[in-house]
Amino acid sequence: MIEIHNVQKSFNGNQVLKGITCTFETGKCNLLLGGSGTGKSVLLQCIVGLMQPDIGSITYDGSVFTNNKVQIRQEIRRKIGMLFQGSALFDSMTVYENTEFPLKMLTPEMTKEERRDRVEFCLKRVGLENAGNKMPAEISGGMKKRVGIARAIAPNCTYLFCDEPNSGLDPLTSLKIDELIHEITHEYNITTAIITHDMNSVVEIGDHIIFLHKGQKLWDGNKEEILNAQVPELKEFIFSSSLVRAAKKVDDESEGGLSAITDSTNSQSAGS
Ligand SMILES: Nc1ncnc2c1ncn2[C@@H]1O[C@H](COP(=O)(O)OP(=O)(O)O)[C@@H](O)[C@H]1O
Ligand SMILES: [Mg+2]
Repeated sequence: MIEIHNVQKSFNGNQVLKGITCTFETGKCNLLLGGSGTGKSVLLQCIVGLMQPDIGSITYDGSVFTNNKVQIRQEIRRKIGMLFQGSALFDSMTVYENTEFPLKMLTPEMTKEERRDRVEFCLKRVGLENAGNKMPAEISGGMKKRVGIARAIAPNCTYLFCDEPNSGLDPLTSLKIDELIHEITHEYNITTAIITHDMNSVVEIGDHIIFLHKGQKLWDGNKEEILNAQVPELKEFIFSSSLVRAAKKVDDESEGGLSAITDSTNSQSAGS
């Protein structure tokens, strides 16, 4: 479990994070949900140590990360896998070499054969067992995300962070990538945090959802609860999608639509 307590961050007097307190639960997909510019990426960068919060603390499974000794921070960072927005693969390396890269960096004690076994295992797990020799320019956006996931999990990560894993993908490919992240999270009991503004991801894989608005956490809960949340900013965010509005209408009329989508047993009206 990752515990975030009262994290604040300002840039030149502009307070972007106004005291965020939340937890990312182990073995779950924890979604950081919110509109553009609400501070999701800044929060993620504070959590993984790419930025220092001004105030507040971050604890990984009981180990304090903020302001701790370099060695302890490094030990935690070794357990972190990142899937970057746009995948951020090395263009001059093959799919195989991209996946092997963190193993060479983080686990120099591994032999070449051990690395090969691990890379082959990870590429197979993301459905790319035959793509090892391809260059990033030769593969689709969805395949690039899969390589990004294989590279993130290659060093056996305990924590996985994904910044907008669906950006630039069509809805069906997005769904497949969401499902893959969800499966891997549950299979290996990883604490996964996913930045998103995609309501499809919420209803598909939102084990735990944290809603951010203008640098504050306004709500958290799961995908069954979110459609009945009574926070005006969250309702506005959810129902800004005409598809969700239409499904909600069907739901209210037939007690079918959204309840069925979210597997919710609660057909109570959200009163939009
Ligand atoms: N390094 C930075 N310096 C100054 N301002 C920043 C920096 N990074 C982000 N911001 C500002 O913080 C706000 C939140 O950004 P961000 O976390 O990227 O939003 P999002 O929720 O879309 O991921 C934005 O107004 C952005 O301009
Ligand atoms: Mg962002």
